[in-house]
Amino acid sequence: MFEVGVMRSEEVEEVIHLEYDVLGVSPFVATSLLPVKKKVIVARVNDGIAGCATVCWNDRFEIASLAVKKEYRNAGIGAAIIEKCFEVARDLGFDSVWLETPENGPVEFYLSHGFCVESHVRNMYGNGVSGLKMVKHLS
Ligand SMILES: CC(C)(COP(=O)(O)OP(=O)(O)OC[C@H]1O[C@@H](n2cnc3c(N)ncnc32)[C@H](O)[C@@H]1OP(=O)(O)O)[C@@H](O)C(=O)NCCC(=O)NCCS
Repeated sequence: MFEVGVMRSEEVEEVIHLEYDVLGVSPFVATSLLPVKKKVIVARVNDGIAGCATVCWNDRFEIASLAVKKEYRNAGIGAAIIEKCFEVARDLGFDSVWLETPENGPVEFYLSHGFCVESHVRNMYGNGVSGLKMVKHLS
């Protein structure tokens, strides 16, 4: 069982650790240095946070990260977090949600949640790995 909500101040450290553990970087920390507004959506289980997404926006709304701990995957947590991201975007008045993912990332997962590929970017991360910009149009 899990519940999805907005990160509380006492959960900041756990989110940073989770992002580093799963992604090797912390988009939450990185976006803190940018002139954007942001929120973190978390999925809480009994023993803490199982997954999170950092979302940020100025002129457009982006999912900067999505990460679910290995032991909690394939239980619908990623789907629930992404649906909550859509809700937050709608509540803020956005009609689309953007993200970037490596070509070898969970592209199928995003397609199954209504994202489409907007463009391909070669060497997106400066390490030779190409990426995709994806967009979901909210109806
Ligand atoms: C992608 C991720 C967030 C999905 O979280 P989750 O809680 O397991 O997702 P759900 O349980 O809601 O959905 C699972 C579905 O997504 C699919 N999926 C998960 N990871 C996938 C991947 N890398 N490629 C393709 N499909 C993937 C599963 O096969 C499953 O499909 P099914 O429902 O048809 O069986 C999680 O696997 C993760 O944190 N991955 C590592 C970090 C990552 O790649 N983040 C995105 C950076 S752009």
